[in-house]
Amino acid sequence: MIIDILTLFPESFSYLNSSILKRAQESGIIKINVIDIRNFSKDKHKKCDDYPFGGGAGMLMSVQPIYDSVMSVKRENSKIIFPSPSGTTLTSQIAKTLSKEEHLIFICGHYEGIDERVCEIFNPLQISIGDYVLTGGELPTMVIIDCLSRFIEGVISQESLLEESFSCGGLEYPQYTRPADFMGYKVPEVLLSGNHKEIERFRRKASKERTKLIRPDLDKD
Ligand code: ADE
Repeated sequence: MIIDILTLFPESFSYLNSSILKRAQESGIIKINVIDIRNFSKDKHKKCDDYPFGGGAGMLMSVQPIYDSVMSVKRENSKIIFPSPSGTTLTSQIAKTLSKEEHLIFICGHYEGIDERVCEIFNPLQISIGDYVLTGGELPTMVIIDCLSRFIEGVISQESLLEESFSCGGLEYPQYTRPADFMGYKVPEVLLSGNHKEIERFRRKASKERTKLIRPDLDKD
């Protein structure tokens, strides 16, 4: 998969060059390009924002630099995503669907937002990462990329996907590693027993209880 990120703040994206996403890029599964929208501004001072028509707080990102930066990478098979608090809320299912795309383009808004004509021209998929407002689309872009990458074959083990939160509709069971006793805090006995049937039963029960307590909206029965 090729991912092009259009932003006024390319330096924000160093997170994508660490850990699992770094490995995915090194092995060629994902290719991520971070592109500075400012390089496309036709303004003599490279300005990329302006006051909103009709008045109002703050500045808006102008249509021209965004339009030209999108056109510099857009192909026939591109899916354009605009992270926005007004979008559809991200879920595992949406991320899974996006993981099947060949080319994603992310438009990162900043300041008070972007000129609406960007949406009129490109009709991007608008995705929110939750009911709160951030200063820009950079963090949401990284959240969406991180989330969808996990569904691309070879990025993480398929087993991890099967057992994690939301994959079966509820929250994941608690997990422990060595030591079995840390300052008197003990790992549940059943996990040390080697009895896989009992372990499975313990995990299913723990997962159910946790879901009921923390996310009753996900509890199916
Ligand atoms: N940009 C600012 N806030 C956002 C949010 N909650 N989700 C996606 N993009 C955003």
